[in-house]
Amino acid sequence: MESAPGPEVRIDGRVYRYFAGTSYYGLHGHPEVIAAGCKGFRKYGFHTATSRAGFGNSVPLLEVERRAAEHAGQEAGFYFSSGYAANHILVQAVAEAAAVFIDEAAHFCVAEAAKIRGVPIHRFRARDAEDLRAKIQAHLPAGGVPLVMSDGVVPATGHLPPLDEYVELLEEFAPAVLMVDDAHGLGVLGDRGRGSLEHLGIEDLANGGEGRRSVTILRGGTLGKAMGGFGGIITGSAEFMERVRKSSNYYDGASAPPSPVAAATAKSLELVAGDPSFLERLRRNTLHLRRGLKELGLEVHEVPSAHVGVAIGRAENMARLHFELRAAGFLVPMTSYVGSGAEGILRFAVCSGHEVEMIDDLVSALGGIL
Ligand SMILES: Cc1ncc(COP(=O)(O)O)c(C=O)c1O
Repeated sequence: MESAPGPEVRIDGRVYRYFAGTSYYGLHGHPEVIAAGCKGFRKYGFHTATSRAGFGNSVPLLEVERRAAEHAGQEAGFYFSSGYAANHILVQAVAEAAAVFIDEAAHFCVAEAAKIRGVPIHRFRARDAEDLRAKIQAHLPAGGVPLVMSDGVVPATGHLPPLDEYVELLEEFAPAVLMVDDAHGLGVLGDRGRGSLEHLGIEDLANGGEGRRSVTILRGGTLGKAMGGFGGIITGSAEFMERVRKSSNYYDGASAPPSPVAAATAKSLELVAGDPSFLERLRRNTLHLRRGLKELGLEVHEVPSAHVGVAIGRAENMARLHFELRAAGFLVPMTSYVGSGAEGILRFAVCSGHEVEMIDDLVSALGGIL
């Protein structure tokens, strides 16, 4: 990759139409974001070289937390160096759990975080609420609190696990906890782009919310995808965030994201807050992509995720499609990432900056080689 991600990228000396990656608002190469990062470098140096609990609370870090909390409609935030670690941090903030029930296709970082609890782990069929109920009935010790762990959006395919159904069924086993990694939902789903919980109408239960207290939801995410920045984020009520900071040692034991990175991330968040058209254009493009793929006779999901994973025949056929699209100037990765199934999938992703004609061109190129 020899350019920032965006509607077009340069790779190995050639410019391609880019339908890959996760920079869903296309902000990582925005001139104001780059300028804010450069200014941050000059003012703060590379990074604070101490933890947040030392003297590491630089101004841009606090600004990221304030802006991310504002975007989420929450009181406070904790910004750290990787969305991958969000689950590792959050799982330690769960007060009580007798057993973990995890979607069998959950992201690597969700599965790793589950192990930290040190309680039995049971896998349920991907996105299957009935199988989740059966697994809880079979394995939850009497009177124990179940901890269910899932992605908010499947990273490879864009499918949405039925988190609202999970909440309903968890009422039967309350008190219960649902932990959600919303890396691909934040910025993309919901009327205000707050993510999968907003989309499903269960946001009020999250991270110290005042909703039904019998089922609580813990949600983490990343600013490194749609939001155009870098690093992990957890937002919530002031009380909840205090608990999160204290329950793992990430706050006092790890370097925070470098201040220039935080400065660039804060600028991305400022741009997002000031311009609803990032989300509007992303919505338009996701709809347009899905419609185009459907017109080719492909089976695509019906949710407004910014990416669509499509299985088109066997792995060899998808590899052929990938390379022929690439030769025609379109980048669509063929991936066997977690959640993609044994043969893998072609993962089509759009960003706010794509013109609809670019998507039309992709669809007609694909139609010509299917
Ligand atoms: C579901 C999910 N969680 C977490 C991450 C990692 O986030 P970050 O890149 O901020 O570490 C990814 C990255 O691809 C992801 O797909």
